[in-house]
Amino acid sequence: MTQIAHDRLLIIDFGSQVTQLIARRLRELNVYCEIHPFQNVTDAFLTEFAPKAVVLSGGPASVLDPDSPRAPQSVFELGVPVLGICYGQQVMMTQLGGEVSRGHGTAEFGRAYVTPSNNRLDLLDKWFKAGPEQVWMSHGDNVRALAPGFEVFGTSPNAPCAIVADPARHFYAVQFHPEVYHTPNGASLYEAFVKLAGFTGDWTMGAYREEAIRQIREQVGDAHVICGLSGGVDSSVAAVLIHEAIGDQLTCVFVDHGLLRMGEADQVLSMFRDNYNIPLIHADETELFLSALDGMSDPETKRKTIGKLFIDVFEKHAKSVGGAKFLAQGTLYPDVIESVSFSGGPSVTIKSHHNVGGLPDRMDMKLVEPLRELFKDEVRALGRELGLPESFVGRHPFPGPGLAIRCPGEITRPKLEILRLADAVYLDQIRKHGLYDEIWQAFAVILPVRTVGVMGDGRTYDFACALRAVTSVDGMTADYYPFSHEFLGETATRIINEVPGINRVTYDITSKPPGTIEWE
Ligand code: XMP
Repeated sequence: MTQIAHDRLLIIDFGSQVTQLIARRLRELNVYCEIHPFQNVTDAFLTEFAPKAVVLSGGPASVLDPDSPRAPQSVFELGVPVLGICYGQQVMMTQLGGEVSRGHGTAEFGRAYVTPSNNRLDLLDKWFKAGPEQVWMSHGDNVRALAPGFEVFGTSPNAPCAIVADPARHFYAVQFHPEVYHTPNGASLYEAFVKLAGFTGDWTMGAYREEAIRQIREQVGDAHVICGLSGGVDSSVAAVLIHEAIGDQLTCVFVDHGLLRMGEADQVLSMFRDNYNIPLIHADETELFLSALDGMSDPETKRKTIGKLFIDVFEKHAKSVGGAKFLAQGTLYPDVIESVSFSGGPSVTIKSHHNVGGLPDRMDMKLVEPLRELFKDEVRALGRELGLPESFVGRHPFPGPGLAIRCPGEITRPKLEILRLADAVYLDQIRKHGLYDEIWQAFAVILPVRTVGVMGDGRTYDFACALRAVTSVDGMTADYYPFSHEFLGETATRIINEVPGINRVTYDITSKPPGTIEWE
């Protein structure tokens, strides 16, 4: 559990697809919150966490099923406000003596309108501004009998108990999802809830910076730390923050694994050397990585190989600086959130992100991860707070395994060269058209397929490439960027003319989910 000393709100996760959005809405209100799966929330955990309020998330189960999850009963005995969302509402009703049924009302999915009842509830004053409010519903079950002490404060055509509350105990429960985009005024409901719970909005980047610095000093003492620098926003912010905390006890290691983009090594080294006085080792390990990856095809094997080699390189340099005891990484909150699995087992591994999974047990160094509580946009805010140049804070994310995961199928050096050039032309186009800042991430992928083309009077038989560009807030969900056809046409022409080895260009229009942002 984190040691952050702010007012804390606990989100108990029952497995909804949108639980992370609850955290986002709350963090936007400067409220510190953490998501924990219901299985992990024991009485001892609650005592240690000491939440000032609790939110019960939605989830796919039905409280009518005998094995469906519950909140620990002690959540309702803490004396703090509790807000139940969708499945969380039904859990609250069931556990406090109400009843839920499948037959009363009908299922409701998508847009609905909630009308206020005649009772007045402070929490809703800002919400029901002018009559019925649009909400987003996703439920099959409905509350049939209210738990003692509860009253109805809002109804929708198919949810007679759309909003219920026991104002005396500060228990509130809604059938809809106020955290999603399609509940346009939903944030004001969270705002009223946290205000009522007494949160003062003390989760600011200025406060975070001070506290993180104190904690890094406490954790590290007078030991030496090395920080793996990738040139991305996360590891750069982590490095600058740690340097502020412990000065030259920090050495950064920039590993060039031969999987970087065109010109990237020079850009990162000059940005650090021109702006900061942080000891920096440039480890050119191209040979080590590329010979290990040569001919490798399986995505997880690629990731694990790269993760292991990174650690080998860090360990080598930890020795070279006289024995670093700590390895710093820019791990973010979305990388460490445990998601709920209803099969009872651990949730499925989609990909082994190298800065979370894949660290060998034998690693001697302990981890320093000062960004573990932050979402990506919060890291950017912290970077600004620390004075990093805007050109750096606004950089698109770039994954640790680099171009290796943009080369599906066999990795070979010639393919990496082709990919690097295609990617450079694509990004140049995006910058020239002034689109860089509108896009979360854009890159080229070289496909493991050759196609026939005709150039001049000759036949070609070259690789196809895919272009990817997505919009996103935190990388957890994403949509493809709607480039104009002119832009796509011009970019395809440039790539085919300027990149030997590519004769066909496609544009990937998959959202996440069901796709992921990277191809591997
Ligand atoms: P996916 O492909 O999982 O990517 O939708 C979400 C975001 O994470 C980045 N990513 C990584 N970052 N190490 C990293 O530091 C990794 O192993 C890794 N894999 C994916 C990806 O670029 C996107 O921004």
